[in-house]
Amino acid sequence: MRVKIFGAGSIGNHLAHGLRRRDAEVTICDVDPAALERTRNEIYPERYGAFDPAIRLLPVADVADEAFDLVVIGTPPDSHLAIAREQLERAAPRVMVIEKPLCTPDLAGAAELRDAAAAAGTAVCVGYNHTLTAHTRLAEQWLAEQPLGSVTTLVAGFREHWGGIFGAHPWLSGPKDTYLGYTERGGGALGEHSHAINIWQHFARAAGLGPIVEVQAMLDSVEEDGARYDRIAQLSVRSESGIVGQIVQDVVTKPSRKWVRLQGSEGFLEWEVNVADGEDGVRMQSADGETREERVQKTRPDDFQPEVDHLIALVERGSPDPDSPIALERGLDTMLVIAAALRSSAEGRSVRIDPRGGYGTGALS
Ligand SMILES: NC(=O)c1ccc[n+]([C@@H]2O[C@H](COP(=O)([O-])OP(=O)(O)OC[C@H]3O[C@@H](n4cnc5c(N)ncnc54)[C@H](O)[C@@H]3O)[C@@H](O)[C@H]2O)c1
Repeated sequence: MRVKIFGAGSIGNHLAHGLRRRDAEVTICDVDPAALERTRNEIYPERYGAFDPAIRLLPVADVADEAFDLVVIGTPPDSHLAIAREQLERAAPRVMVIEKPLCTPDLAGAAELRDAAAAAGTAVCVGYNHTLTAHTRLAEQWLAEQPLGSVTTLVAGFREHWGGIFGAHPWLSGPKDTYLGYTERGGGALGEHSHAINIWQHFARAAGLGPIVEVQAMLDSVEEDGARYDRIAQLSVRSESGIVGQIVQDVVTKPSRKWVRLQGSEGFLEWEVNVADGEDGVRMQSADGETREERVQKTRPDDFQPEVDHLIALVERGSPDPDSPIALERGLDTMLVIAAALRSSAEGRSVRIDPRGGYGTGALS
């Protein structure tokens, strides 16, 4: 399997490592020669012990016309759609995964990407890796085995200080140096921790709650050194079935907490990432009053390996899988909520999302 990764940064290295563990032929390309050198001399060896000389590190232009089975777009969010469109037109792969958030919150080009992917026959995914990890699958299995009665609410939070990200990017002096410091470029808490919106939607689907149709948001926005971003995003949401829930994302909480709680009339389900060092956890109380709890041992590479395995399976399948938890439409659903939250905050009112309104701003009212 031949794979091209755009972006020799943090996520590019994570996915390159996961793909090499499955013997894929990996090429990483970047527009910045310093990033390619950092991957060879710092990021990959510091994370995984040694650089893997089987990985090709090349400027983007050198591999622009080569054919690949899988293309990974691990660049800043405001570059995702242009790279994706160009790749689909020039040398469409079987599968393409675009990192989260899929695009900028103005949704420019989002609907067109869906059309281009369909025309090319490429299975496009969005890198919400937490929907595929072992403890997520366990939570889904328990939910299917022992329903919680009628669901009353669903809460999700990804609250994590972004100091860890800047620690891993010592060449950046702070938010202003990167998209992270600009909500409109896909940064801020809304973009960076959009895993919470996405995992809320994931469990809402599993529990039959339907899509999010209404969003009311309160943001804590910051302006510093020319940067402008939301550091806390609190969203009240309503699903099509009428369930009211809450989603919180921030870049200030430490130690971090990443969790979901699904409350039913007969019990509850809790899902948490890093519930303890090196452990993800699931806890459930079902109708009979019994509580089950399981911890899943994991390493940082295990956060990405199920996603990598899923992508490889999609390449082997040879056609898009509309039921994939990371299908393009799932990433677009998350973008609609981000866009609705920004409009809600700006206009001080609830914003409705028409679930059949497509993937542009026309779906919002
Ligand atoms: N799923 C996750 O848990 C996870 C983790 C980390 C990052 N991400 C996402 O991955 C994306 C990148 O984040 P990062 O932390 O790896 O950033 P990064 O800054 O570490 O790396 C991005 C790289 O992309 C390169 N680049 C920019 N434009 C390019 C282009 N047109 N072609 C090729 N290369 C280009 C830059 O030179 C840089 O080396 C973001 O969307 C981020 O949200 C997701």
